[in-house]
Amino acid sequence: MSTWLSRRAVLAGLGAGVSACVLPSAARAAAAGFRPLKAALATADLLGSAKPDGARETAVWAYDGSVPGPLLRARTGERLRVRFENALEQESSVHWHGIRIDNAMDGVPGMTQQPVPPGGAFDYDFALAHPGTYWYHPHIRSAEQVARGLHGVLIVDETEPPQVDRDVLLVIDDWRLAPDGQLDAASFGNLHDAAHGGRLGNWMTVNGTSQPEIGLRAGERVRLRLVNVANARIFELDAAPLGAWVAALDGHGLNRSVPATDPVLLGPGQRADLFFDMPAGADLTLDDVSTGERIVAARFPVQGQTGDLPPRPPLEALALPRFAPEPDLASARRIELLMQGGAMGGLASAKLDGEELALRDLAQKGFVWAFNGNVGHMHDRLFEARRGETMAIEFVNDTSWPHAMHLHGHHFKVLTRDGKPAPDAGFRDTVLTGPQQRVGVAFVADNPGDWMLHCHMLEHQGAGMTASFRVA
Ligand code: C2O
Ligand code: CU
Repeated sequence: MSTWLSRRAVLAGLGAGVSACVLPSAARAAAAGFRPLKAALATADLLGSAKPDGARETAVWAYDGSVPGPLLRARTGERLRVRFENALEQESSVHWHGIRIDNAMDGVPGMTQQPVPPGGAFDYDFALAHPGTYWYHPHIRSAEQVARGLHGVLIVDETEPPQVDRDVLLVIDDWRLAPDGQLDAASFGNLHDAAHGGRLGNWMTVNGTSQPEIGLRAGERVRLRLVNVANARIFELDAAPLGAWVAALDGHGLNRSVPATDPVLLGPGQRADLFFDMPAGADLTLDDVSTGERIVAARFPVQGQTGDLPPRPPLEALALPRFAPEPDLASARRIELLMQGGAMGGLASAKLDGEELALRDLAQKGFVWAFNGNVGHMHDRLFEARRGETMAIEFVNDTSWPHAMHLHGHHFKVLTRDGKPAPDAGFRDTVLTGPQQRVGVAFVADNPGDWMLHCHMLEHQGAGMTASFRVA
């Protein structure tokens, strides 16, 4: 297999200055009025200097013509008002991943709104009650639309953010490119990918380019926001050489900081907020080590002089607060979610629209996964919770593949792995469950409406790993 993602040589020496990924506070989205956000065809220079001779930029689908889409930014307590315009040739929507949002604004066609037709528009208008690093993407034909380039980041600033000198956003993606530098579109909908680890790419980008260089002054305190927008790839980002501390996962504070001694595991949809101080005299890199090789994701060369930097409290003292309500385990209702199917999964049959079908027949309809014996459909409701009820869900991964289980409208607390306590794994909106692993989570179902619970490996989602629940 000759994936560029595993070939350091091809990646070496690439990179362009991307000061655009360093966020001045002036870039905050205006609080008043609707900000337009348009999905349309565009091109992106994903390959940079690695473009084959005579190749054009990659044709993509993009928000406001850029990949990733524009950074949307506001303060906790403000409202976000976005007028989404669909200039694509197919239906779309915008889902605000991870936000504890008003249900009507969740962007799930067929559940919280009608799909936005080609040429149509939809006004999203919601309160940002909690701070954190979030992202947005379509929630219809997600496997194709997200992979074609439709994704962007939403930052909700804390009321009193920790003092930093730089706020650096890294949007990490992988693309499946054909030799001519264009998207390998023939592989959209490929059932073999869907039954395995999803549609993995062969070209990694960070902020839409390869190995961006972000110059930092020695002594600067840096907040690093990592966002995995890839369809299926699990990145492992080695932040130990930066001396970084992790303060939030999936936008939600840990209440303390933990040293990033092990690589930061980032499944599809997941985010992490890290802090580090740029040392003197050493250029640093953030590397992905998930392929078994070290691939530079971003470079941080030392630039300019140290001088007038204000003193900062020690990194270990940095804490981003928790905000999700603490689940009451004593009164919790317990639900088991058995994840079944896929290649080497041994699933013989499952129910689709009430009819038990053999795996072969399901596969003909594009389905190869099931939850609790049901091929996931948006309207297979897993449970209906009373408002404020604590739900404890045990994800039982009876498959040979990892899955990134994502909950809409809430953050859950990760409690156990294989029955053993997972101390301080934090509140998240997406959790990785390894093959044959059990992961126990719990959350207070306090956000009324119909919500989704699905695998964020988008090909798995499309091929049956989808469920929903209602909070009354
Ligand atoms: Cu990020 Cu249901 O999705
Ligand atoms: Cu999955």
